[in-house]
Amino acid sequence: MEMRRTLMSLAGLLLCAAAALAAVSAAAETPALKSVAPKGLRIGAAVNRTQVSGNDAKAVAIVSRQFDTVTAENDLKWERVHPEPDRFDFEPADRYVEFGTKHGMFVVGHVLLWHQQTPAWVFAGENGRPLDRATALARLKGHIDAVVGRYRGRIGGWDVVNEALDEDGSLRKTPWLEAIGEDYVAKAFEFARAADPETELYYNDYNLWKPAKRDAAVRLVQGLKAKGLRVDGIGEQAHWGIDDPPLEAIDAALAAIRASGATPLITELDMDVLPRDPDQWGADLAKKARIRAATNVYPDGLPPAIQERLARRYADCFALFLKHGVGRVTFWGVTDATTWLHDFPIPGRVNYPLLWDHAGHEKPALEAVAEVLRKNAKR
Ligand code: XIL
Repeated sequence: MEMRRTLMSLAGLLLCAAAALAAVSAAAETPALKSVAPKGLRIGAAVNRTQVSGNDAKAVAIVSRQFDTVTAENDLKWERVHPEPDRFDFEPADRYVEFGTKHGMFVVGHVLLWHQQTPAWVFAGENGRPLDRATALARLKGHIDAVVGRYRGRIGGWDVVNEALDEDGSLRKTPWLEAIGEDYVAKAFEFARAADPETELYYNDYNLWKPAKRDAAVRLVQGLKAKGLRVDGIGEQAHWGIDDPPLEAIDAALAAIRASGATPLITELDMDVLPRDPDQWGADLAKKARIRAATNVYPDGLPPAIQERLARRYADCFALFLKHGVGRVTFWGVTDATTWLHDFPIPGRVNYPLLWDHAGHEKPALEAVAEVLRKNAKR
């Protein structure tokens, strides 16, 4: 009797083990995104310090298996690497570049010139005076020389200028424009080229699905090329929603960028699943609190119906990326646990914009993207 029971529980154990093995090998058979992407399309994610250091082991496992390119979410921004005029802090950026190199990835540098996450000293003139052109150019050149020069041969492509355009296509009124004048964009590309002639150079912005802004980006880049400057791609950040922008607008934007001769890149992809309030971008604190209360609608998990909509949205967008020969798709984050969208544009909500959930498990959207890549990949 005792013997029989032991044998039965042994058999049970063996069955469990077999089932577990089957599950593991099924999981291992799910192809990595990088392995189903067509030639010429890199797929990656933005990584943070916790991932680079290895402390977020789940995310590292995903990144190393799935992706062939990485972007630093914050650690190459001016405020991080060059916090004071005579002080650089390259430690985290060095670790990031080592991480990408160790995993054999195409390492992206983000970002050289932006009006945000740039320390106040950069925009301050001497003795309380407004910043003058010569000083601004000298600071820009000093920064680009140091940062691009340090990673020469190791960073494969740089976002040189970020968000230079307003929604109507005019140049955004930033301290860079004010101090240097309209050629500041060209100067940044010129300095970057000189600091590393081999690295790719990109113009990066958001809302390029809006015709006025997209046409302005195309004109800007064509103007740079006409001056003999190197520009390898136009990056659309793609911080999108689950329903907007409309697919037709994305389609038209990618077509227009392609037609201009530039390679379209999707550089910061995520899909905000929460309801959007037209005032969410510019609201004051009181209004943001009201919007938070009204739109933080999935605090305990994403309902299956929305999960499916997210999967379809990702699949539809990837079909367009393939159609227009996008050169790189980089997700802005790895799992939902660490997405910046919990706090942007409204702080303190729970969001679900990526392909892996808060626990690091695959979402239906991952399978949907892999499926589109598998089906449509021209090899
Ligand atoms: C975001 C990061 O994800 C956040 O961690 C940080 O607090 C703010 O910046 N456009 C860009 C990115 O080009 O650098 C921004 O990244 C998101 C918007």
